[in-house]
Amino acid sequence: MQIPVARPVIGPDEVAAVSEVLLSGMLAQGERVAELESKFAAYCGTAQGIAVNNGTAALHAALLACGIGPGDEVIVPAFSFIATATAVSMCGAKPVFADVDEETFNIRPDQVKERITPKTKAVIGVHLFGQPFDVDPVQEICEAHSLVLIEDAAQAHGALYHGTKVGNFGRCGCFSFYATKNMITGEGGMVTTSDKPTADRLRLIVNHGQSEKYLHTVLGYNYRMTDIAAAIGIVQLRKLDKFNLRRKKNAEYYAANLSAKGLIKPKVADNVQHVYHQYVVRLTEEFPLSREAFMDYLKAKGIGSAVHYPIPIHRQPLYAPVAEPDPCPVATKLAGTVLSLPVHPSLDAKDLATVCEAVNKVK
Ligand SMILES: Cc1ncc(COP(=O)(O)O)c(C=O)c1O
Repeated sequence: MQIPVARPVIGPDEVAAVSEVLLSGMLAQGERVAELESKFAAYCGTAQGIAVNNGTAALHAALLACGIGPGDEVIVPAFSFIATATAVSMCGAKPVFADVDEETFNIRPDQVKERITPKTKAVIGVHLFGQPFDVDPVQEICEAHSLVLIEDAAQAHGALYHGTKVGNFGRCGCFSFYATKNMITGEGGMVTTSDKPTADRLRLIVNHGQSEKYLHTVLGYNYRMTDIAAAIGIVQLRKLDKFNLRRKKNAEYYAANLSAKGLIKPKVADNVQHVYHQYVVRLTEEFPLSREAFMDYLKAKGIGSAVHYPIPIHRQPLYAPVAEPDPCPVATKLAGTVLSLPVHPSLDAKDLATVCEAVNKVK
């Protein structure tokens, strides 16, 4: 049987929780959503959680709640999932791309500093692949220049930076519960914040700008989560630490057992707890196969793999043309050399051994 690169872990308790909602006849936003919001906020250590229907909506609503609009610039890493940047564009603002660190894949504080202009209003730091970005220097830059910091924590539920959970550092933390994430609701997301005015604005924005029934005071959207999704999320949240521990143990196994020449294993920064949404290796020129040939080889051995992400955001047709010289050369290099191996919690000892044996035998 194929070892997939990602697999949602759903058990009878998620099924029972969804059945209960379905049979209650109350399918849209209700008690389950409120319960997930308060439990997720408590888990992260923030004052509030505002549930939404996906992580992109979380980012868009967070930016709007922080006052981002036309004419503004928001600094984002060039190496991330596209939504980090498109959420900025959805506000009518301009994403400005900062390069990333070659070893941690995360946004570089010096690059953030360099990209600041009089139009800069915010920075989105992404905790990419489950590893917190270096928050302290980015926070310092934001404070010095009166910029809003937003965390894109779509891939990092439960990750720690200097012992504190992500989602606490920015004005808002934005999470995704998409089907392959560390905890899931199928589609879904959450904004965490401890700033009351921001939370109040978020609650309006995600529900048609409605302050009272059929009274609409600001431009809003329908970004609500359903009770069906929230019921899954409540059960998944209970299992999140266990899932993350499995991911970490799987990554530790790879760290100890992968030894192919020209394959660089992921680096974990000091003082962070990585939650391994993805286990991303880099292939150097010393590696005997091209990335495509390696993926085919793994597939033939029943092992799934994936490229996150093959095109850096600043080179996507949406944001082209790219200035010369390339303003984010590390992001471009990583896009050409990274490969994600399976690290999800449902891998067993045999799967891990199969992956290592296949990788180490590459010629
Ligand atoms: C870093 C990052 N930001 C934002 C998103 C958007 O989340 P969603 O797919 O739930 O809209 C994702 C999802 O893959 C992501 O990985």
